[in-house]
Amino acid sequence: MTIAEVQAPREPKYYTVKRHLLERIATLPAGSVVPTERELASELSTSRTTVRQALVELVAEGRLVRRQGAGTFIADPKITWPLHLTSFTEQAEANGFVASTTLLAAERVRAEGEVAARLDLAEGAGVFRIERLRLADDRPMAVETSHLSAARFPQLTRHIRRQQSLYTVLRETYGVVPVRAEELIATAPASPREATLLGTDPGSPMLVLGRHSRAASGEPVEWVTSWYRGDRVTFIADLSAPRP
Ligand code: GLP
Repeated sequence: MTIAEVQAPREPKYYTVKRHLLERIATLPAGSVVPTERELASELSTSRTTVRQALVELVAEGRLVRRQGAGTFIADPKITWPLHLTSFTEQAEANGFVASTTLLAAERVRAEGEVAARLDLAEGAGVFRIERLRLADDRPMAVETSHLSAARFPQLTRHIRRQQSLYTVLRETYGVVPVRAEELIATAPASPREATLLGTDPGSPMLVLGRHSRAASGEPVEWVTSWYRGDRVTFIADLSAPRP
C-alpha cells in the first residue's frame, strides 16, 4: 500500500500516514515495537519527514512512546481520572493505584497577584507554597503547587513534611474540609523543569488544572496548580443538567 492510494482529497500526507498508523496501533498490544521512520517511509512510499510528523503527533497524544536508544513503542492506555473534590491520594487509590509524593518545596512566601486574590488575602500577606511531585504506582503523574494562608494554617509546612496528603493534614490538624471548588482546565507546553520531573520532553503537551477550593464557611482553603502529562491522563467530569 502507498500513502497516495489512501489519501483523502485535500488531506495532508502526514495525516494520512497518521490515520493508517492509528488503525495499525488499534490491532496491536501495548509495548509492541513500531517500525522505524525509515522502514515506514519505504513501506508507505513516502518521505521520512512525513512519517516523522505523524509519529510526533502520535507521541504527543500518548498513543506511542519513544524510548531513548530503544525505539518507538505502542503506549499503555491512558489513565482515566475523574474530576471530583477529592485529594490526589484518594483519587489515585480509588483508581487502583498506590499514591506517593515527593515534597519538592515547602516555604513561606508573600502573597501576590492571583494568589492573594484567590485566597482573599492582602498583597504581601504570608502564604505557604508547597510544591510536590505526585506519583501513582511510582509513575510521575503531576507536579502540584499549592498556596494556603499562613495565618489560617500555622505550621503547615511542618505537618506536610510528615504526612503526604494535604487534605488529611487539613482535616486532622485544622478541622478544615474543602466542600466546594472551582476547577480550571487549560493546556500548556511543559517547561524544562516540569518535563524533567515528569519524565517527558520540554514542550510536550500538559493539562494544567487550577483548583480553588472553599470550606463550608465560604473561606478559601487553597489555590493549587497541577501540571499533568497530557499523554498520560484523560480527565472525566460527570455532568448533569441543571434542575429546572
Ligand atoms: C488534588 C487537587 C489539589 C489538592 C490535592 C490534595 O491533587 N488538585 O487541589 O490539594 O488533591 O491531595 P492530597 O491530600 O493527596 O495531598
